[in-house]
Amino acid sequence: SRPLAPTSMSSQSQETPAVNSPFAETYRPNQKIYDMIQEFRESLEITPVSSTDQIEPHKICVCVRKRPLNKQEIIRKEIDVVTIPGNGALLVHEPKQKVDLTKYLDNQIFHFDYSFDETATNGLVYNFTAKPLVQSIFEGCMATCFAYGQTGSGKTHTMGGDFTGKQQNSAKGIYALAAQDVFTHLNHRKYAKLDVSAYVSFFEIYNGKVFDLLNNKAKLRVLEDDRQQVQVVGLEEVCVTTTEEVIRMIQTGSACRTSGQTSANANSSRSHAVLQIVLRRNDRATTLHGKFSLVDLAGNERGTDVCSNDRSTLVETAEINRSLLALKECIRSLGKNSEHIPFRMSTLTKVLRDSFIGEKSRTCMIAMVSPGMASCEYTMNTLRYADRCILYTSVYDAISQVAELEEKTYAELQVKF
Ligand SMILES: Nc1ncnc2c1ncn2[C@@H]1O[C@H](COP(=O)(O)OP(=O)(O)OP(=O)(O)O)[C@@H](O)[C@H]1O
Ligand SMILES: [Mg+2]
Repeated sequence: SRPLAPTSMSSQSQETPAVNSPFAETYRPNQKIYDMIQEFRESLEITPVSSTDQIEPHKICVCVRKRPLNKQEIIRKEIDVVTIPGNGALLVHEPKQKVDLTKYLDNQIFHFDYSFDETATNGLVYNFTAKPLVQSIFEGCMATCFAYGQTGSGKTHTMGGDFTGKQQNSAKGIYALAAQDVFTHLNHRKYAKLDVSAYVSFFEIYNGKVFDLLNNKAKLRVLEDDRQQVQVVGLEEVCVTTTEEVIRMIQTGSACRTSGQTSANANSSRSHAVLQIVLRRNDRATTLHGKFSLVDLAGNERGTDVCSNDRSTLVETAEINRSLLALKECIRSLGKNSEHIPFRMSTLTKVLRDSFIGEKSRTCMIAMVSPGMASCEYTMNTLRYADRCILYTSVYDAISQVAELEEKTYAELQVKF
């Protein structure tokens, strides 16, 4: 059942700062908007995703996760404009103004396979997103789980583990939870006859180059053989037997990942990080059985939003956006069953090539959104075409939306330098 339809609410009264009122300290710059959103929320029946909900496996699964307002946003008294009422729906309350200056809410609704609100834990998100993919690699699939979204929206928090300040708990991220499940499966009778072992590699793609996060950031070459098989030459692939081992690898790798500062995140990932869990048969050739690529994408944002304006930062931002555009192009071609898939457009798509092709590919996209009113435009871009009602491939249109915006920035940058 669809819980609601988009509506709009309006208010005629003007805002009046309650300077002398006893509630002065709770006054918000946009109190009226806040009140309208609250009033709207109170009219909703909220049923968030629960651990007892059914998981429906798809070839492509599209989800969204909203993070809570952070400390700075709370201090700035930012208004939370995103509501997750349940059944995969997500609402954005976009504040708008009529020509007569009357403020009103434009409540827009989107549908996904699952929508997670700010109370969802990484564990809950994991159960509905990556967990079914772990199962699939035991059945010989090539699975990919992407965390996509604006800088500071929670990609690294979701994939790498909860942050407490700067400290990250690597045991609590999708990377570790997936590893844990891989070992549970490996020890299960059902899969004993497969006779496979698990291997882990962890690398980042920064400015189009691949660096091995498990080997002191050694720079690696990406080669394509005559059969169009793409190889990252010399990538460290470690045979693993316990979750603890994998957690240590996640910690080591995350610590040396390239980071920087953006307007929304003091510890922003400026590279795409890919953790791969590979199942290989215990034969002489260690034949590939299945592969799971967990991708924490670099945050997309406009060049103008980056704190530092030096040339390398601008190039870095342009490169991030270019590869997100390439990712969009590839998956869009896939969605259309197109003959030609433009893998060569970026290193990211090149190294993920084998996970994109064939009947045995599985993809999950977790689109992260920031709840604040100031992020509204980005949030809308991330969500607009990812609506479940449109098509499964629609998330790639969402990327496309942002990427097209970014492409403009990229073109501008090229003119500049
Ligand atoms: N679901 C959440 N619950 C609580 N805090 C969160 C959540 N998601 C993100 N945060 C907090 O927000 C901050 C930014 O998150 P994170 O570094 O994961 O963003 P990101 O999307 O990886 O950004 P970038 O693209 O810049 O790397 C972190 O300090 C993290 O603790
Ligand atoms: Mg990050």
